[in-house]
Amino acid sequence: MTQQIVERYGDHIFNHAAASEDERLGALAAELDPVTFRRLGSLPMQRDWRCLELGAGTGSVARWMAARCPEGGVVATDLDLELVRRNDGDAGVTWTHHDLTRDEFPPGSFDLIHARYLFCHLRSRDTDLARVMRWLTPGGWLVLEEPARFPIDASPDHAYRTTGMGVFAALEERIGTDCDWPRDLEGHLSRAGFTELDSDVAYSLAGGGRPMGRFWELTVEQLAPVLCEMDGITPDMVADTLVRLRDPGFREPGMATVGVIGRRPVS
Ligand SMILES: C[S@@+](CC[C@H](N)C(=O)[O-])C[C@H]1O[C@@H](n2cnc3c(N)ncnc32)[C@H](O)[C@@H]1O
Repeated sequence: MTQQIVERYGDHIFNHAAASEDERLGALAAELDPVTFRRLGSLPMQRDWRCLELGAGTGSVARWMAARCPEGGVVATDLDLELVRRNDGDAGVTWTHHDLTRDEFPPGSFDLIHARYLFCHLRSRDTDLARVMRWLTPGGWLVLEEPARFPIDASPDHAYRTTGMGVFAALEERIGTDCDWPRDLEGHLSRAGFTELDSDVAYSLAGGGRPMGRFWELTVEQLAPVLCEMDGITPDMVADTLVRLRDPGFREPGMATVGVIGRRPVS
């Protein structure tokens, strides 16, 4: 019997050792942190809250939470903590090597759990949501922020749209990523049993100098060899897309970010 080899995020694509990965995730954080901090800041955070940041990346959100909850503390996880080490290390956070799809935390361990741009990459995302709920204390809060592809799918710019949709197709085929799943993030949390749901969508412009543009440019650059092998995508289209993303006059939307706050029921 042949064993199916299943690639995970970071095994090859988006490995943290890739030359531009620190800058790529740094650009993502620069784009999204202000919205994330406003969203987390809308919660009744207490100094003694125990917080969990899943798939921490460069660790900017974990460090922000640690400054607000010094008496409770922050645990931050990732499959690879290399980028955290390069971006200010400790900062009062307990950094833990942890695979969300396989590793556990004791039930009721946290008052607040946050994850950003993570669940879309997990094949077991719906069952993982249910497991994450058990890690919250009754009444604890979950904040998820996930990327949705529909603004790129709607772009009138042929090269940008086709290359971008190629990125989503390549990630889906290789890792199992689904950037349609976040369109109904509130529904997914509701079905998992979360209550007091509140969601919204933020749009980011890609294009010259903007962090979302740089993030997408480095994403397309990393995947260029895969994209150029795909039906309907030529090396010229990939090159044109990279030129557009560096152009200050290019103002097409990048991915949308769907954010939702939900609560584990008290009883
Ligand atoms: C797109 S990056 C987002 C990083 C960070 N959350 C942010 O928004 O700035 C996804 C992160 O999740 C991590 N990751 C992917 N699969 C994971 C898993 N199964 N368990 C824990 N972390 C995972 C990756 O290593 C990477 O750091």
